[in-house]
Amino acid sequence: MSVVERIQAVDPSGQLDAVRSLPDQLRDAVWRFDSADLAPVDCRGLVVCGMGGSAIGGDLARAAFGDRLTLPMETVRGYALSSATPPDHAVFCSSYSGNTEETVACYAAAEALGAPRITATTGGTLAESARADGVPVIGLPAGLQPRAAVGYGFGVTAEVAAHCGVASSIRTEIDAAAAHLESQLDALMARAGELAEAIQGSVPVIAGCGLTAPVGYRWKCQFNENSKWPAFSHVMPELDHNEIVGWQGAGAGGAGEFSAIFLEDRDHHPRVRQRFELTAELIAPNARGVHRIETEGESRTERLLWAVMLGDLTSLALAGLRGVDPEPVDVIESLKDRLGRP
Ligand code: F6R
Repeated sequence: MSVVERIQAVDPSGQLDAVRSLPDQLRDAVWRFDSADLAPVDCRGLVVCGMGGSAIGGDLARAAFGDRLTLPMETVRGYALSSATPPDHAVFCSSYSGNTEETVACYAAAEALGAPRITATTGGTLAESARADGVPVIGLPAGLQPRAAVGYGFGVTAEVAAHCGVASSIRTEIDAAAAHLESQLDALMARAGELAEAIQGSVPVIAGCGLTAPVGYRWKCQFNENSKWPAFSHVMPELDHNEIVGWQGAGAGGAGEFSAIFLEDRDHHPRVRQRFELTAELIAPNARGVHRIETEGESRTERLLWAVMLGDLTSLALAGLRGVDPEPVDVIESLKDRLGRP
């Protein structure tokens, strides 16, 4: 059975198609941003508020800008803005469902602060409140799992950030990245299948740095939600000051089998490049495997999204190998129910 057939056998809701639609999502995100026809925003920084699949777009957009960021941009995951947030920072609230209580709380906190607000959602409480308050809503298409709408999250956030003046627009990079992903799809799928087979049965521990730091976290979350499997992520060079020691306890006779996945990029500091090399050597004896992945593509955006798509496909390939449906996240839903949805 091919990797695609194995995924399709457990994927009645078409999560594979959703991941494969990333290039279309990116183009549509730009169009949806334009269609919202936002008035100019006068601000000195941007706070992106969201949770889970609706927050990662903020981290990824910030990473794509990298050193091109000219004003502060941060992602807030939680119920409140930082007490240091000044009222001249715009607050962008992103919730796919529009009903995530943490994001709705940040929306209210931004009002109390007097900060300019922008929202992106398919509906829910957030859309209702924004409509009532005259706050712009960038409409997202319904019917996806929030985490599968990462192209929207990334593309819309990057456009909002450029609109707020925290960095210049990367729209041409986004267009080129969409074309690049389309051309790489088969190769990415094959690579994802191989990687999933290599790590199957072990716990993936992913490491990134700079551009690839939020990608590592995205991989971790996709293994958790799509593959229903534990996974962890950390960042270089910090992991060389703690996690590297923990690998001594890994392995069959210790904490169990772990696989290291290093997301490496040509923009990394030369010492970080060296650290990945040496760390791979040092942990190899206790790891199921050390998989060193060099991002592919021209621009930062291209390489970032290439690595995101490889992770998304690998998580689906692992779901296929495990025989689990990648779509449902019942435990998240039941937790939200037990908390009492807003
Ligand atoms: C589900 C998923 C979750 C949600 C999170 C927030 O696919 O990825 O992490 O994104 O529970 O919900 P929304 O995105 O609706 O604000």
